[in-house]
Amino acid sequence: MNPDHATTPAGHPTVSDLIDELAVLFERAAAGGLCHPSWAAAALDLVREGVPLVGDDDVFVAHLIHRSLRAEASKDGPPVSRIATMRAPDLAVRRPGDRRVSLPAEVPDILQPFADLVAERRSTPMYGSDPLPLSHLAGILSQSLGTKGSTLGYQRRDIPKRVGASAGGLQSYDCQVIVNNVEGLEPGRYSYDPVGHELVLEEAGDFRLPLRDAAIESDFLLFAQAVIALTGDFPRVAWKYGTRGYRYMGLDAGIVAAHLYLAATALGVSVNALAAFADDSLNRLLRLDGKDRFAQLLIPIGTAPGRRPR
Ligand SMILES: Cc1cc2nc3c(=O)[nH]c(=O)nc-3n(C[C@H](O)[C@H](O)[C@H](O)COP(=O)(O)O)c2cc1C
Repeated sequence: MNPDHATTPAGHPTVSDLIDELAVLFERAAAGGLCHPSWAAAALDLVREGVPLVGDDDVFVAHLIHRSLRAEASKDGPPVSRIATMRAPDLAVRRPGDRRVSLPAEVPDILQPFADLVAERRSTPMYGSDPLPLSHLAGILSQSLGTKGSTLGYQRRDIPKRVGASAGGLQSYDCQVIVNNVEGLEPGRYSYDPVGHELVLEEAGDFRLPLRDAAIESDFLLFAQAVIALTGDFPRVAWKYGTRGYRYMGLDAGIVAAHLYLAATALGVSVNALAAFADDSLNRLLRLDGKDRFAQLLIPIGTAPGRRPR
């Protein structure tokens, strides 16, 4: 079927006819109390957002969800102007009459270095002007995205064992590095090969402005010495988990980000995750199709101002 609905044979409904009919059906269903109007609106939105995929033969529910979520800002959340006046939900774990057991505040001695690192970790969107040592970029990549040998699995002998856990060991993520100011590296867009622990130059050039423009109110991107772009690969999980794999992709990326934050902290390198970006613009910049492969998270890193990396 042609998504632009122009060439359907006479008498056949077009995609826009289908959407119009669904809209009427959903509206009637909501008016008749069959579903809540918010359900009708959400379901119709999912179908509407999926229109560009009507000609594809491998569409999972996850693809429709992903298209619906790729807006620049949370389109069904409150307007940004209102958020400043809104109160967040209570985060305390407390119920009337609950029974509590106090836990020791001290961690076992052997855990202390880790606890110190955790205490030091912060999101810090502040970058100095010194180049980032290559060894620091390499160490951050190896400890968050690197491999530690390979293993047998899924009828293969060459499954890389990654430093971080991933759902089913399927490693739903890849990594690109936008290099702005790293010792010994030409500025440009690189892919990280975790098996060879190598950077592969994809495009040389200065990506600071286009990257800043693909993000939302995040000028600190201009000053980071390098920006690590975590990207997701849906088919890598979909063959086993189907649409549920889409949930695992976010969890996998979160684990990588946690490793990355701690490795950067240990090195005295500034780090700040960033998810406020326009998916379509960023995917274009990273040369991703936005359907099966897409940007998950940007993580700008760099030398902390006034401080030498350790
Ligand atoms: C998934 C994710 C997305 C984030 N996106 C942004 C972002 O778009 N912009 C930003 O300034 N910080 C972003 N952050 C950083 C958070 O705001 C920060 O982690 C949070 O405020 C807690 O502060 P802390 O990391 O210093 O403990 C993000 C963090 C995570 C984990």
